[in-house]
Amino acid sequence: MITDDAFAEYEGTSQSMSHNKNGTQAVPVIPQGVETDGSRLRALIERASSAATHQHLLDVFERIEADRYLLEEMQRLRHAIATDTRYWDLCCVLWAYAELFKPDVYLEIGVRRGRSASVVAAANPDVNLCLFDMWHPNYAGIANPGPDFVRVQLKRAGHRGETRFFSGRSQQTVPQFFGDTRQPQSIPLVTVDGDHRSTGARADLDNVIAHLAPGGILVFDDICHPTYPNLRDLWTEFLADHSHLCAEENEIDATGTAFAMQPTFAPCHSRLGD
Ligand SMILES: C[S@@+](CC[C@H](N)C(=O)[O-])C[C@H]1O[C@@H](n2cnc3c(N)ncnc32)[C@H](O)[C@@H]1O
Repeated sequence: MITDDAFAEYEGTSQSMSHNKNGTQAVPVIPQGVETDGSRLRALIERASSAATHQHLLDVFERIEADRYLLEEMQRLRHAIATDTRYWDLCCVLWAYAELFKPDVYLEIGVRRGRSASVVAAANPDVNLCLFDMWHPNYAGIANPGPDFVRVQLKRAGHRGETRFFSGRSQQTVPQFFGDTRQPQSIPLVTVDGDHRSTGARADLDNVIAHLAPGGILVFDDICHPTYPNLRDLWTEFLADHSHLCAEENEIDATGTAFAMQPTFAPCHSRLGD
């Protein structure tokens, strides 16, 4: 969960202050009313953890075909509404970003039955979707039927934009995608939720980060999943290698979700000796 201290740290700062808690830079003066990376991040988390977002998600999930994991998520959302609790997970962040910032393109690695893609499609129906999966059969013990099934889910969610599927191992298909200059090269909203093994997950993060648009976010799921304890350290190492990113993590709700925002301004290296 984000704390008020963390908000204060983000407010009116450049990206490098927001992730490095030991940073020593002076706080720049930002004119009132000007959106900063900090205010954008704050708005995003406020919206993600709100009861309005929880209710929007329940409305989407009632329209698409559910499996037992989706039913469990619906229980968590209903509980958060009933107890007036702040809560955010992968789908909450995706809804909030898509609703607030209306990204033109969403790129997702790890689609499965279209739950997270349907959330983005419902929040911003005209978004164009680039969906990457190798459709592992019976993923997590449940049928993983592939593109035709996901298309139906997206339609039920109210999607009107274009959908393109890239089937195969993401460590190959994503670099191929970005190697084709006819494809979008700067993406405002990205989820990495495919290969959960360390090498594969790190490769996925590395393959997308250079293409994250300024002000865009990269969402990484399952940082506290009991089956994948490797992902927590992997995310920390990834951030250390990309210290310009504004990052936020939630280790409490669901299986843990993290995201990083590409700053809208280049960091200002003004300290002596830099
Ligand atoms: C956790 S599920 C995705 C869940 C989805 N984001 C959601 O929120 O509903 C992971 C998906 O990643 C796919 N996957 C796993 N390893 C992959 C790889 N190396 N390349 C492409 N897809 C992969 C699996 O087939 C599975 O459908």
